[in-house]
Amino acid sequence: MTEPDNDTAAVLRKEFATGLAPARTSRWVEAFASVPRHAFVPAFYTQGPDGAWERVGPADPGYLEAVYSDRALTTQLDERGIPTSSSSEPSVMLTMLDALDAAEGDTVFELGTGTGYNAALLSHRLGEQNVTTIDVDPDLTEAAARRLAGVGLRPFVATGDGAGGWPGRAPYQRLIATAALRSIPDAFFRQAAPGAVIVAPVGYGILRVTVTDPGCGTGYFLPTPAYFMPRRTPSVPPAFAQAETAEPTTTTAAPSDILGRLRFPLALALPGHTTCSWRDDDGDVTAVGIWTEDGSTATAHVSGKVRQVGPRRLWDVVESLAETFAGEPERQEFRVSITPGRQTVWYRTQDGPAWDLPQLG
Ligand SMILES: C[S@@+](CC[C@H](N)C(=O)[O-])C[C@H]1O[C@@H](n2cnc3c(N)ncnc32)[C@H](O)[C@@H]1O
Repeated sequence: MTEPDNDTAAVLRKEFATGLAPARTSRWVEAFASVPRHAFVPAFYTQGPDGAWERVGPADPGYLEAVYSDRALTTQLDERGIPTSSSSEPSVMLTMLDALDAAEGDTVFELGTGTGYNAALLSHRLGEQNVTTIDVDPDLTEAAARRLAGVGLRPFVATGDGAGGWPGRAPYQRLIATAALRSIPDAFFRQAAPGAVIVAPVGYGILRVTVTDPGCGTGYFLPTPAYFMPRRTPSVPPAFAQAETAEPTTTTAAPSDILGRLRFPLALALPGHTTCSWRDDDGDVTAVGIWTEDGSTATAHVSGKVRQVGPRRLWDVVESLAETFAGEPERQEFRVSITPGRQTVWYRTQDGPAWDLPQLG
């Protein structure tokens, strides 16, 4: 493997770090300028127009420039070619770190070690002894711990489902997730110090919660869109064959809205759902599919024809959201109230449209 030229990397890294926060000051810029991202992303994958993945490493042209750019980089693929880990988009990482509002000496828990880069930024600024990071994939935690040690940082790296937190090192003053959750895990509240701040992607937004009392909190979504990989859970296939046999109904909701303007509220109304689309030769959407883990499945064609099967009528939920929101709703207009056993997201006012998020336990 060709090692990156350290002088070039240092120059690129400085420009990259200042470019991340040109219009505002952030206490994290110094960390981005100091921690070498290339040490955590020794290679990444890019997808060509034909969908094939290509590995890009230090010997390939453009490697260092890509590492020191504001790009999310896919770092792990499963056997089907589905990305399972990445180094997130640095500007989104910075937004989340700013929202975490952590100070030197705060104890921090991170769900989603991935490459170890975010854990390195946290350790650099807050002190390695204060950082606990966990990933579900032992290959990733092994590599991340090695890379962290390689740059002189030794936070506590654990392997397991981060939804359980890591009770052995609680309480935490700050908790951050870098995989998308359906709600804030109960364990986060059990392991949070009084007044703790939690920042986590929920659905396609970033939720910031302040813990008020044990098991309770209030929060809001940041304006920034976020498309993190979902926390890994067993996947359930759609029931398209069964849906084909269902009696069709008609809809006035545009099928492509579930991939666009309704994407964020839909993740709150149907947490953990999956979507897919069928397209014509020009790339235009001709139909969409949506399904959830309970076996409910719906398909909607641009002609307006809808087919639904399973215990829940998923397209009815889409229609109701299409009626509620004339355009794409602003994420920061969604707030959350948390009491033991209940997490409610509401839009604009507490008596406005609201959705209960599922409990992860
Ligand atoms: C976007 S990547 C994290 C990026 C990472 N923070 C970094 O700086 O490179 C999301 C990570 O979440 C991990 N993950 C998914 N489900 C998880 C779970 N249940 N518990 C802990 N980690 C999980 C994935 O293995 C993946 O590495």
